[in-house]
Amino acid sequence: MKTTQATTRRALPEWAALDAHAASIGTAHLRALFKRDRNRAKRMTAQAAGLFLDYSKNRVTAETMALLFDLARATGVARERDAMFRGEAINRTEKRAVLHVALRNRSGKAIKVGARDVMPAVKAVLAQMATFADAVRGGAWLGYTGKRIRTVVNIGIGGSDLGPAMAYEALKSFSSRTVGVRFVSNVDGTHLAEQTRDLDPAETLFIIASKTFTTQETMTNAASARAWLLAAMGNNAAAVARHFVAVSTNRVAVRAFGIDTRNMFAFWDWVGGRYSLCSAIGLPLMVGIGPRAFEKLLDGFYAMDRHFRTAPLDRNLPVILGLLGAWYNNWLGASTHAVLPYDQYLHRFAAHLQQLDMESNGKSIDRAGRRVDYETGPIVWGEPGTNGQHAFYQLIHQGTKLVPADLIGFCRSCNPAGDHHDKLMANLFAQAEALAFGKTAQEVLAEGVPPADVPFRVFEGNRPTNMILAKSLTPATLGALVALYEHKVFVQGILWNVYSFDQWGVQLGKVLAGDILKELEAKRPRLRHDASTNALIHRYRAHRKPG
Ligand code: F6P
Repeated sequence: MKTTQATTRRALPEWAALDAHAASIGTAHLRALFKRDRNRAKRMTAQAAGLFLDYSKNRVTAETMALLFDLARATGVARERDAMFRGEAINRTEKRAVLHVALRNRSGKAIKVGARDVMPAVKAVLAQMATFADAVRGGAWLGYTGKRIRTVVNIGIGGSDLGPAMAYEALKSFSSRTVGVRFVSNVDGTHLAEQTRDLDPAETLFIIASKTFTTQETMTNAASARAWLLAAMGNNAAAVARHFVAVSTNRVAVRAFGIDTRNMFAFWDWVGGRYSLCSAIGLPLMVGIGPRAFEKLLDGFYAMDRHFRTAPLDRNLPVILGLLGAWYNNWLGASTHAVLPYDQYLHRFAAHLQQLDMESNGKSIDRAGRRVDYETGPIVWGEPGTNGQHAFYQLIHQGTKLVPADLIGFCRSCNPAGDHHDKLMANLFAQAEALAFGKTAQEVLAEGVPPADVPFRVFEGNRPTNMILAKSLTPATLGALVALYEHKVFVQGILWNVYSFDQWGVQLGKVLAGDILKELEAKRPRLRHDASTNALIHRYRAHRKPG
């Protein structure tokens, strides 16, 4: 493979400059940094697309940021970003362009893959989705027996599930309450069984969402869903067309499944699964919130795309977040990154980011095919506040590990009731303050705590957070927020010199599972695995039948 980056990242003088800088500033306390620089809270902020970022509570100085921006310049972040927006085949290991930005391109300008402008096809699919969503929501799309559709069940996994499932939950306050949307992803039969047990097949419509239309989990669930429907429809295959639609790049497989390809919503190989929310993969979301709200979501994505493309590096939100993440990951020894939204509607946000970030940058081979000698993608995790506070925040406050975190909050609640929102926001601000500044032994003593108990009550502080604030959680805000993280991941992929848009690491397990499935189904299989795997398979075969 042709290499684009001959020099290892560690050999860059800009990397070495950060090594030296980390040795000097690494332990500087946020208390001291705030005391030293009275303008810090004002200066270390940036905003775009309705999102305000306060990054002053990070363990950085102006010099740290300058060195990090030098690294961004040296690694060609702007150049690579422009190559993506131009439609170049930057996904080199799969020889594809990476153009999720075309899906929300609201500029009216062409975006080309090779010589072909992709925008007419993008717009045509969006229009097809809108017609379908309106028909389902308005009751014009009827089931086979003439009943209205009351529930849409999306069957997909990974990028064909997490994005729309997260966004449907996030935007529930904008959703129709007459047509419900559910999501089935796991091949565990429990998932489909529980999501359909109270549904009437005559009022249920399935969206089979799979880029490849070959994914084991999705095809298994789709086949069982079809059997469930047909059992209620007297095995009349004609019913399938009124109760199944498909979202895929694979027309042949969709037809083979029995879905009328007029009810297929296309997308393209230049849309990565985890970046596909704005494509037809967003169909269940569009059914839920309606085409107009979906357009607002696209507007939000586009606003952040434009910001990422045009803002100078030092005011560029995805660049700033990407660099800060790299700072902790590569120079301060943090191996995880927590995302803690103070909004219950965002309860699946971290799950979506896990795939987005970890499937993109969970790589150990650089673009020249060498094993990296530095850390790459972090472990991403999180839960909504305030729930997390009563679960794992203890470790963030007083544990031995450094856990940088993004705190996300909204000035207005979607469900204003009493003083709930002020209490929620008070907790959000309090956590950022407590994590950064902690409580010294002197402060604890001054409260009258017996000296022997003081060590247990001390909060070291110096725990870094980014604060992301927006007015309210709307479709546009959500679009901007998701795009912010997509581009942050992009920036980090460039900093770490890895290919962010493939996912070869998921292949081996898939292949082995296929082999083992045959052995589970065979009468007398000859097992040739390691001793542990062989024994486990034998044990399972011996115990799987009840009795
Ligand atoms: O297993 C990983 C993966 O390939 C993801 O990247 C993708 O989002 C998911 O599987 C689902 O793939 P598909 O949409 O082709 O069913």
